[in-house]
Amino acid sequence: MTAQALEPYLPFAATLVERRELSPDTALFRVAPEPAARSALSGFLPGQFMQLSVPGAGEVPISPADLPGADGTLELCVRRVGQVTTLLHQARPGQPLGLRGPFGTGFPVEEMTGCPVVLLAGGLGIAPLRSLLLHLVRNRERYGEVTLMYGAREPALMLFREELVGLAAAHGLRLYLTVDFAPEQAAGEYACAVGLLPDLLKGFRFDAGQSYTAVCGPPPLYRCLIGELTAAGVAPDRVLLSLERRMRCGIGRCCHCAIGTKLCCTDGPVFRLSELAGIPEAL
Ligand SMILES: Cc1cc2nc3c(=O)[nH]c(=O)nc-3n(C[C@H](O)[C@H](O)[C@H](O)COP(=O)(O)OP(=O)(O)OC[C@H]3O[C@@H](n4cnc5c(N)ncnc54)[C@H](O)[C@@H]3O)c2cc1C
Ligand code: FES
Repeated sequence: MTAQALEPYLPFAATLVERRELSPDTALFRVAPEPAARSALSGFLPGQFMQLSVPGAGEVPISPADLPGADGTLELCVRRVGQVTTLLHQARPGQPLGLRGPFGTGFPVEEMTGCPVVLLAGGLGIAPLRSLLLHLVRNRERYGEVTLMYGAREPALMLFREELVGLAAAHGLRLYLTVDFAPEQAAGEYACAVGLLPDLLKGFRFDAGQSYTAVCGPPPLYRCLIGELTAAGVAPDRVLLSLERRMRCGIGRCCHCAIGTKLCCTDGPVFRLSELAGIPEAL
């Protein structure tokens, strides 16, 4: 039994190995957990989250942007917004960190086998969906058509653009990139459309009856996209939503992350739309 199974509040040690800037306020952090933690991470599902602690600052929930690598390292795509994330952004390789998890529900990748998958990401919502996308391309033969629609506010804020274009070309993905706003000609340079993600979805033809859809983005996006997806005929139990709430314990004990009768940390963060019926505050 791991130390965390015995004491779930006890983080295991980890070290910041590398960081890569993705936009003015967002970076990709590669974090190496202590070797003893690797077995706990081996069953990690895309969409689950870790509680990342920065000594002296506190702890924050982060959904890794990829499954743990063969060397056990995790990629965390983190936006600088407040106390903990600012200190993380100031950290250098070698900085000691702490990790608890993995926690919560992930995307039902086994159940999705054989089906088309449509991923809809807005802004930083690409972080957890990137781990799902990478799972789908690494197991490409097990899934139907894979589509990613990704919207950012403006071209400079579009994360992983070159990587996504490369993955689409190499694995036959349907990729649609869009920005809300672009300086003149910039959208053309970046090869993306100008417009809102729900509008992009309106004209999109896909096998709605068979498809699983995975949505992650800023709160206002969910209602618009859900309206389009249900109108297209996607079953509510195939509309998968990754939700965010402020968290403390991460393990269902403090009720800090309550969404009506559900807890985001244990019932989610990945919910089916059908599970959220009758909980208007969820979306
Ligand atoms: C399951 C889950 C997965 C997440 N994955 C990622 C990820 O991959 N990358 C990433 O950058 N962030 C992610 N987040 C959000 C991240 O946890 C918060 O940005 C972080 O906790 C902010 O901590 P801070 O100390 O830097 O900011 P604080 O000083 O605590 O807060 C700064 C501002 O951010 C707001 N805020 C903080 N947390 C949240 C939240 N959960 N929801 C809405 N507003 C919030 C505060 O109200 C405040 O206005 C995730 C959150 C959850 C619940
Ligand atoms: S964060 Fe404590 S119950 Fe969810």
